[in-house]
Amino acid sequence: FTGAAEWVPHDGGLKKLTAALPECRGCDLYQYAERVVPGEGPARARMMLIGEQPGDVEDKEGHVFVGPAGRLLDKALAEVGIDRSDVFLTNAVKHFRFERQGKRRIHKTPGAGHIGACHPWLDRELEIVRPSIVVVLGAVAARAVFGTGFKVTEQRGLPQVLRDGTAAIATVHPSSVVRSREYRRDFDLFVHDLRAALAQLT
Ligand code: URA
Ligand code: SF4
Repeated sequence: FTGAAEWVPHDGGLKKLTAALPECRGCDLYQYAERVVPGEGPARARMMLIGEQPGDVEDKEGHVFVGPAGRLLDKALAEVGIDRSDVFLTNAVKHFRFERQGKRRIHKTPGAGHIGACHPWLDRELEIVRPSIVVVLGAVAARAVFGTGFKVTEQRGLPQVLRDGTAAIATVHPSSVVRSREYRRDFDLFVHDLRAALAQLT
């Protein structure tokens, strides 16, 4: 893939960025998804959360984290006392990647090529918002911001720094908690990591 760089505006704010996003042809995913899903939240947010890619519901509705993973995330944020409207929510990859099984569209993890191709959008979001803390949700987002070799299971909840020096905390993806057979434990661990992120702000 050629990557998103040539479609990403070098100036302007979130409005300009969001307006440019639907034109992106940086990888093949735009061909299959219903729509692109931009990051959302205040440009002045102090916390940015980075997910994997839009899911089935997000692809239909055009907003980040509005499906089952989003509901779990909302619940966990509420538990920590973070208002969803105060944080910037985005994804490492902006188009939904899936496989068809009959009428159903089954989530398919984006490849390294998709993560790399889409990275210029994420970089620009980071430049515009300049969050004080980044919460990295799951292995795909971790790959996008830390590169390969980062192990979420080993490093979750521990202070990290991004390449540009921004403070970060990695945790699991909320959809893994949704699917967990030890839901209570995994939900509490997820909340614990979000608390660690919040503690970096104060
Ligand atoms: N999962 C993600 O990583 N992002 C979303 O927006 C929804 C589900
Ligand atoms: Fe562009 Fe990212 Fe969509 Fe690929 S996934 S077409 S790089 S916005």
